[in-house]
Parts: sequence; structure tokens; C-alpha cells
Amino acid sequence: MTMTSRQGVPRIVARSNKQSVRDEVLRGLHAEPKTLPPKLFYDAVGAELFEEICDLPEYYLTRAELEILRARAGEIAELAGPQVALLEYGSGAGVKIRLLLDALESPAAYVPIDISREQLERVATELAAEYRDVAVRPLNADYTRPHTVPDLPVRSRRVAFFPGSTIGNFHPMEAVAFLSRVRRVVGKDGALILGVDRRKGVAVLNAAYDDSAGVTAKFNLNMLKVLNHDVGARFDLDKFRHRAFFNSSASRVEMHLVSTEAQTVKVADELVDFEKGESIWTESSYKYDRARLEELVDTAGFRIRKLWTNAKRQFWVVYLEAV
Ligand code: AVJ
Repeated sequence: MTMTSRQGVPRIVARSNKQSVRDEVLRGLHAEPKTLPPKLFYDAVGAELFEEICDLPEYYLTRAELEILRARAGEIAELAGPQVALLEYGSGAGVKIRLLLDALESPAAYVPIDISREQLERVATELAAEYRDVAVRPLNADYTRPHTVPDLPVRSRRVAFFPGSTIGNFHPMEAVAFLSRVRRVVGKDGALILGVDRRKGVAVLNAAYDDSAGVTAKFNLNMLKVLNHDVGARFDLDKFRHRAFFNSSASRVEMHLVSTEAQTVKVADELVDFEKGESIWTESSYKYDRARLEELVDTAGFRIRKLWTNAKRQFWVVYLEAV
């Protein structure tokens, strides 16, 4: 692997594996209940649909986090210090990172890590052109699996950035495992800036994941298109419907794709049976209260240095230091 970039176009480091995706899909569809990983939402169309979700009136998360980052970027930069190497897990459209890069004192490097290659390529290229003094090292990878990070300037302090409440996609035990991995990557003087959605009333949460314009439904159903395209499945999108609800005992929003009839679907070279009303569980979005958040970060080897919320107290941006 090389770190050189030509004409300001960062070279993408790709670490993915079609075979392992196929195996993961089949394992999930033969499980009880049927489950698929949310990373499968994000082909090029899915990434765009997610951007659309972020603008929905019901989906408060992105606006709330941006409000906090705009108000607190200076404070965050002060805690982080000069010449940091920023690693962003799930870099997406690259809006939030600009707020940090603008506030930080001479940031040394930026490593965007994302599963959506098209978006990663575009964003990395734009940022490399805009921030000439920052070494941009995009990594096209599934960060839910073990991966190695590109070489970074040796003397720079590592600060990870995991915004958007994506931590909520992990079951709490997996969240600990993931954060522990981030903790090892940033090292003992490292930090993590984490975006966390706060637990709140069920009506607000249900609406956020089942919007009136039907964009989230489209986003959810797009996973079946991804399977049709990527693992040779034959899902009929008209025979599944979107369902999302807050499961309050587990403190998570669940998204499902419900089979509207009994059917058998070919997936890769296997057959998967559905009963009428049976669902595929495609996503969990855990919502945290303060006690649960503290327990989570503690167990992973971090401590809360500072935590900010927005005016409506919907969301947290948390600055974590390695213990
Ligand atoms: C990008 C994972 C944070 O869980 O809120 C949005 C994805 N799913 N609407 C979330 C999502 C349905 C989102 N994350």
C-alpha cells in the first residue's frame, strides 16, 4: 500500500470482500429471526437516500448534531490540540468533518473510512483539494470488521470521529467491542468525538424512522435491490413493506422489511422461505441515556471529558479521552 497521491487525488485503499458479504447475507437470512446488516443499505443509491433522510423534517438527528458541532467546534479543537490525525468512521457526505477541519489548529491528516466507495472517492478528492496541508488517506472498508489503518504522520495525536449516532447501529455488546478497537487505534493519548442520539419519546422516534414522505421506506427497501445486484438475489420489492418502531425495553428503534405474503426467494444459489408477515430485521438504532452511555464508554476504555447537547436536548456530541 502506498500513501502517495497524484495531482491531489487521494488513492483509495480498498478492503472489502464479496464472498464474505454473500456468506454474511445467507447466514442472516437463515437465522431466526432473519437479520441483515445495515451496512448493506449503502450502495450509491442508498447513500443518496440517506442524504435525503437527513433533510426530512422528522429526522432531527443530523440537524441536532450539526447545531452542536457548529456551536462547539472551537471547544472541541481546543481539547484536541494541534496537528492531530483525524480518523472518521463512516465519512458519508463530508459535511461534519469540514466543521472540525476548519476549527482545528493545523490538522496533519484525515482518514475517511467508508463502505460506500463512490462517495468516499468524491469526498476525499474534494477535501484534498480544499485542505492542501492535510494528508487525506481514504480507506474503503467495512469498519465493523477488523481492518488496518493507513500509515499516519508519526508524531500526530490520533483523534477518531464517529458522528451521526452510527454507534446506535451496534448492539451494546458490539458497541463495546467496536469502541475498544477504536481505543486501540487512537492509542493511550488518543481521543474520540462521538455522536450519540438520546433516548426520547416514542412518537418522535417512530416518526424519525417512518417519515410521511416515505423516504425511509425507500431506503429500507433499497437493501433488497442491493442484494439483487450484489449477491444475485431475486427479491420482489413489491412483496415487502417497511416497518419501524421504538422497542422501549431494548431502547432501540428497529427497522424491518415485512413479507406481505408467503414466498420463497432465491438468494445466491440458495432458497429462503418467508411466511406471510415474517420480517427481515435490517437495522437497530439504539438510543442512550446518560447512565448507559457512561457504562458503554467506561467498558471500552474511554472517559467522558466533555459532552454537549443541542437546544432541544435531542442529541449529544461527546469528547472521549482514552483512559
Ligand atoms: C446513519 C445509522 C445513524 O440509525 O439513524 C436513518 C440510519 N436509518 N434512518 C440511524 C438511518 C433510518 C441512521 N444512522
